[in-house]
Amino acid sequence: MLKDQIKVLQEQIEQERQSITSKEELGAFWQKHLGKAGSIAELMKGMRDVPKEEKKTMGQVLNEFKGMVNERYEAMKKRVDELELEKRNQAEAVDITMPARIRPMGGLHPITITRNEMVNVFAGMGFDVFEGPETEDDDHNFTRLNVQKNHPARDMQDTFYLSPDMESILLRTHTSPGQIRVMDMKKPPIKVLVPGNVFRSDSDATHSPMFSQMEGLVVDKGITLCDLQGMLDQFVKEMFDENVRTRLRPSYFPFTEPSVEVDVSCFECGGKGCSLCKHTGWIEVLGGGVVHRQVLENCGIDSSVYSGFAFGIGIERIAMLKYGINNMSVLFKNDLRVLKQFQSL
Ligand code: DAH
Repeated sequence: MLKDQIKVLQEQIEQERQSITSKEELGAFWQKHLGKAGSIAELMKGMRDVPKEEKKTMGQVLNEFKGMVNERYEAMKKRVDELELEKRNQAEAVDITMPARIRPMGGLHPITITRNEMVNVFAGMGFDVFEGPETEDDDHNFTRLNVQKNHPARDMQDTFYLSPDMESILLRTHTSPGQIRVMDMKKPPIKVLVPGNVFRSDSDATHSPMFSQMEGLVVDKGITLCDLQGMLDQFVKEMFDENVRTRLRPSYFPFTEPSVEVDVSCFECGGKGCSLCKHTGWIEVLGGGVVHRQVLENCGIDSSVYSGFAFGIGIERIAMLKYGINNMSVLFKNDLRVLKQFQSL
């Protein structure tokens, strides 16, 4: 009797197992036959009615059967795992013949590249970086830099005023107010760069209403104009070429005394004269000088103890020289065809 039942069940299992291809079906098979309430457990219960003398052999037969079903189950499980993996691989297959979707990559703007490079060179000489506000007051932008009201230098820098009185709040016309802000916050030794955007009501091929400058300020005991020239020498060598030299020419700025304009020997022709240097052999790159005593005093720094130098560099000008750009508006138009040329820099 029990033997017949086993036979029937065996045939049934042999058939069922042909169609099992998924984890779910496999789970159902296990429950149906090998689980606690499964068909084999059911057969085990039938052992109660088997006559004593047959119990031993029947028990063996039943155990062997159970072992066989377990083996079948393990074999199916292996196959199902393989099938599932195959299915997943197919679903996730990558078609390497498909054309790639190109994601356009951004790059840094040539002005940013130039500014970063300038900061790096000066950072190598121990400068910190400070950034002041673009909206300034008259006090920082002019008065404390020794540019009094009615000073003609105010006219040199066509100022954008923001306040209705047309004099107290303005867009900074240079990064020099950064000097005042730094000296208000920190006492010497000071060695700082102030990069930033500046604004002037001015627009043509060589001027833009917004451009960027890099201010430099060093204040300590015994600082002289020689220190300025030494640092700038090093700067232009690293920025342009090892063979580039500097030349100081007397100039005037209200916040420095003496004031200088700094030229570099033309790195295109080496000083012989070419169109870049307008056949002079020299290119003007920045203004600077020894910080005016009054400016130090305006910030509570004793000018009989400390002295300093300062300089202001036009970043666009450096970028134009470095990359051979002859019209400043190229730097502001943001034409992708131009910008892409700087992508790898
Ligand atoms: N602020 C000046 C300008 O915008 C440039 C300048 C000249 C900055 C001399 C300085 C300096 O710090 O010492 O034209």
